[in-house]
Amino acid sequence: YKRITTKTLVEMKKNGEKIAMLTAYDYTMAQIVDGAGIDVILVGDSASNVMAGHETTLPITLDQMIYHAASVVRGIHRSLVVVDLPFGSYQSDPKEALRSAIRIMKESGGHAVKLEGGKEVKESIKRILNAGIPVMGHLGLTPQSIYKFGTYTVRAKEDEEAEKLKSDALMLERLGCFAMVLEKVPAKLAREVAESVSIPVIGIGAGNGVDGQVLVLHDMIGMNHEFNPRFLRRYLDMHAQMTNAFQQYKEDVKSGNFPNEEEQY
Ligand code: KIV
Ligand code: NA
Repeated sequence: YKRITTKTLVEMKKNGEKIAMLTAYDYTMAQIVDGAGIDVILVGDSASNVMAGHETTLPITLDQMIYHAASVVRGIHRSLVVVDLPFGSYQSDPKEALRSAIRIMKESGGHAVKLEGGKEVKESIKRILNAGIPVMGHLGLTPQSIYKFGTYTVRAKEDEEAEKLKSDALMLERLGCFAMVLEKVPAKLAREVAESVSIPVIGIGAGNGVDGQVLVLHDMIGMNHEFNPRFLRRYLDMHAQMTNAFQQYKEDVKSGNFPNEEEQY
């Protein structure tokens, strides 16, 4: 595929090709992720945690999301860029949701938006889709509702919540969403959902029966060593490697070893 579009992803599902998605929040990282051939880059509101150090995703603003998204878009050639609508930018009414989505599309150059929730945000999703803006859904553990849930534990373990999730997934497909994220739900339920819809279901902590996977970039490269959920596979230990590099540099500066003869004019 030359350039990934929302249509490409639906095709991938049809062909049984799994979708690889990672987050990114800045130009330099986005260049690397795009260059590695990752299909979808999510400018997640996890930027609130990872980039800004907030405890939750709630504080990040629409302006801040647009800044991150515009930086990412300048770094990519091939990946599809999906941008999270932050908390407070779409829940109060569908018109505001559309205005927020339009700002993201115009000011960042992103290709699609993602928002959390099912039935509760139905009218907002319809409005955004009507304006020609592709929407990715997000069900299961929806971190913008952390104060309702109380914990970041696995969702939809009980029948009632699982039934709602299944009907929300069908609704997202029916409305015209091009894909959805399923976060931290039992693998069996996630597989059932993925088999019940024709649009791709991208999992995080949702097992192997879905159509693709997403991880937070900084978690999967091990920059953050305090976050250890079961679903996280670490591909690098960047925390250790960077710490070593910084300590080595400090030593070299203190000892006068840096810069050497070749490293000066
Ligand atoms: O903000 C984010 O990084 C996300 C993913 C975890 C799906 O929404
Ligand atoms: Na998010």
